[in-house]
Amino acid sequence: MTLDDLGGRVALVTGGSRGLGLNHARRLAEAGARVVVTDLTLESGMDSVPGVRAVPMDIRDTAAVRDLIADIVAHEGGLDIVVNNAGGASGYVDPGQDPVVAFRAVVELNVVATYAVCLAAAPVLPDGGRLILTSSSSAFRHTFDVPASYVAAKLGVVGLTRALARDLGEAGIAVNAVAPGFTPHEEMRKRIPERVESMTSAAVRDQRLKRPGTPDDISSAVLFLAGPGAGFMTGQVLLVDGGWTFV
Ligand SMILES: NC(=O)c1ccc[n+]([C@@H]2O[C@H](COP(=O)([O-])OP(=O)(O)OC[C@H]3O[C@@H](n4cnc5c(N)ncnc54)[C@H](O)[C@@H]3O)[C@@H](O)[C@H]2O)c1
Repeated sequence: MTLDDLGGRVALVTGGSRGLGLNHARRLAEAGARVVVTDLTLESGMDSVPGVRAVPMDIRDTAAVRDLIADIVAHEGGLDIVVNNAGGASGYVDPGQDPVVAFRAVVELNVVATYAVCLAAAPVLPDGGRLILTSSSSAFRHTFDVPASYVAAKLGVVGLTRALARDLGEAGIAVNAVAPGFTPHEEMRKRIPERVESMTSAAVRDQRLKRPGTPDDISSAVLFLAGPGAGFMTGQVLLVDGGWTFV
């Protein structure tokens, strides 16, 4: 057995049809897990990724979240791992928008909806189950031009990780988070091509490790937290940022 052998496990990845979430889903499936991904809209061809079933859903819809968890248990026979990846601020903060409304929307997605997914999943997770949340290096060091709502929300994810680890420990459920540094990926290059290059150089300049982060760097941490190697870790946040935060 390797540290990230996930044979026989069932995993849910939110926001898993593109970006980092898609990479997590692929890597979990390669490690032997059966994977359900959910997203607002699904990239065509998602269902053809081996070991992955794709279901459209908005994680802010609490009733739909509960239905999806029940559907996974019915169709896959259980649920062992939840990777709460859906998040961010893009699409939730528009220029000219009331800043308080935008702030609420970002906290609603990253913290409240993530909490709702964890709350719905916890009762069906077995002893040994895993909840993995997604924070950000921006929660710890605020230099990129990210909105205050994102910083507050991703630090909120750290608090939520610790609180859930406390609440669910007796059930044998480990709760940890990854905090990626700036990690360019294909979807980002499509969405904001002009910014990706300058943000990558700015990140690499300040990192101790002088190369851009990759989706695989973040997925490797997710796989570790999902796998047998992390069975005695809970309430922790793994910063995967090439040393950007502690310059
Ligand atoms: N890429 C980075 O540099 C970076 C750095 C730090 C943290 N993160 C965090 O990692 C996660 C993934 O980042 P990414 O760069 O792949 O982001 P992304 O925006 O490319 O992908 C996020 C995915 O979540 C989905 N999503 C958004 N709102 C949703 C909702 N209400 N319901 C269901 N799905 C929803 C989107 O459709 C998208 O597919 C996010 O939580 C992000 O904040 C990313």
